[in-house]
Amino acid sequence: MGRVYNFSAGPAVLPEEVLRQAAAEMLDYNGTGMSVMEMSHRSKPFASIIETAEADLRELMAIPDNYQVLFLQGGATQQFAAIPMNLMRNKKADYIVSGSWSKKAFKEAQLYGEARCVASSEDENFSYVPDVTGLAFDAEADYVYICQNETIYGTTYPALPDTGDIPLVTDVSSMFLSEPMDVSRFGLIYGGVQKNIGPAGVTIVIVRDDLVREDVLPFTPSIMRYTTQVKAKSLSNTPPAYGIYICGLVFQWLKEMGGLAVMAERNREKAAILYDYLDQSKLFRGTARKEDRSLMNVPFVTGSDELDALFVAEAKSHGIESIKGHRSVGGMRASIYNAMPKAGVEALVAFMAEFEENNG
Ligand SMILES: Cc1ncc(COP(=O)(O)O)c(C=O)c1O
Repeated sequence: MGRVYNFSAGPAVLPEEVLRQAAAEMLDYNGTGMSVMEMSHRSKPFASIIETAEADLRELMAIPDNYQVLFLQGGATQQFAAIPMNLMRNKKADYIVSGSWSKKAFKEAQLYGEARCVASSEDENFSYVPDVTGLAFDAEADYVYICQNETIYGTTYPALPDTGDIPLVTDVSSMFLSEPMDVSRFGLIYGGVQKNIGPAGVTIVIVRDDLVREDVLPFTPSIMRYTTQVKAKSLSNTPPAYGIYICGLVFQWLKEMGGLAVMAERNREKAAILYDYLDQSKLFRGTARKEDRSLMNVPFVTGSDELDALFVAEAKSHGIESIKGHRSVGGMRASIYNAMPKAGVEALVAFMAEFEENNG
């Protein structure tokens, strides 16, 4: 069987060129006579892999020099705890809750200090992003937290909150490197890489120097302190070495593709194909509010659980995989990350049209 169009929310599709290169280098990486998987993380070839990966990420995102880049383990979920532990000096933080992921992060932060929910869209099942214009933040808050792209509900912020001098922390797991972003607007940017960058097991944290401090909450495990990881250049213990290598290949692929502005253009084009179809369909409908629609995750329903199930089952025989919505919301969801080709979205829309004709 050939490759399918994989619409999984994560782990997710990776660029075929990257997979081919990894396969070609599997037994002998660059004349070392071994796989990167077998290589000491203290070796020269691996030092070059992680240093090049960081340099390429800095170039792609135009990360200013006063930000540190960390390649960590523990998933985005570990950062739900690490962020309050490292940043809560006043033991106060303001959270905007726009979906399950920001809600989980908010709940976790409550274990460590006074986390306050300043806005929520739970009243309408997180189908929109709360209005953040003019939101009043606690002047003593150590940070304001958002999840910039809510993977399950397919929403993204049309505009960022103005937090003044309070550091803005963002979870970009499901939109990492999908478009350019102004890093200097944030105190900390982080995400698991398994959606848009690489294999599960690597979490990237981009943190401003002034937030890497010794005065963390006293019980913070040393491995979870940003100071530990910054001093050790992410090599405090054995890092997810092979995953970092794949991330590095994806960074090179992105540079060859023309960088993040080009990716954003491609992503807008792909998303428009799907949203334009949904907007005229008499059977399917997108579930997120139009203004807040994500370019990466597109949830949709028919309105009938039976038809949804039939669609998911029939999609499989058309080479369309992992199109089922998250178990908490049902329906369908197409995740159309950087590595999903336009042809994949076109194949999905063609199948939706066929399904609508047969079942409408
Ligand atoms: C936006 C967002 N944040 C956090 C997570 C949790 O990530 P992890 O499984 O890496 O802990 C996910 C996972 O799917 C996610 O989509």
